[in-house]
Amino acid sequence: MTGLVVAMDGPSGSGKSSASRGVARALGLRYLDTGAMYRAITWWMLSHGVDLADPEAVAARAQEPVLTMGTDPDAPSVAVDGADAAGPVRTAEVTAAVSAVSAVPEVRRRLVAEQREIIGAGGIVVEGRDIGTVVAPDAPVKIYLTASADARAARRSAELDGTTVEAQKAAMARRDTLDSTRKTDPLTMAPDAVELDTTPLNLDEVIAEVLRVIKEKV
Ligand code: C5P
Repeated sequence: MTGLVVAMDGPSGSGKSSASRGVARALGLRYLDTGAMYRAITWWMLSHGVDLADPEAVAARAQEPVLTMGTDPDAPSVAVDGADAAGPVRTAEVTAAVSAVSAVPEVRRRLVAEQREIIGAGGIVVEGRDIGTVVAPDAPVKIYLTASADARAARRSAELDGTTVEAQKAAMARRDTLDSTRKTDPLTMAPDAVELDTTPLNLDEVIAEVLRVIKEKV
């Protein structure tokens, strides 16, 4: 398992984060949340007054923030310019803005290179939108998680106080459309990925199913 790379892709709310951490924990692997990296860049841009509606302005500063990712599945962390950013990257403001930043090719080029560096010789579960297609196309295990729009929205609004399922559903639909229609590395299922619909499953069942696929493939 030491050199194994497990690519976990899918839209928001499909259960990627909890499942990826659970699988990494079960197998003693590292865990990388690539969404947190896009969120961290977005947070930095917002706090530095960069106009996110202007892709050229975002591209011009894409190399500036210094990211440090912690890959322990029990305590994943993200720091920007040396400061812990785990809280700030989860705010509604960042969530609403991240798809515009992640569509900028210079941002993607930078982060894909950093993600490949962190993956290194493997031994890691990596979650995102383009892991099986772009970041680690040779990963021996690729899982594409889906869930119904209602299930995804219900999970997210249970995590975030004060948001209704309907508002959550609309916000997610908007983000999914932006993520899957952008020109560079859109969210799409790799042809060799195993699709797993998590709608009827609880977390333990999702983890068990992913572990079953891994056992079958490696
Ligand atoms: O996974 P999470 O919802 O935290 O991701 C936040 C955003 O980061 C996504 O909506 C998407 O715009 C971007 N992202 C991406 N490629 C990845 C991971 C995340 O474009 N590999």
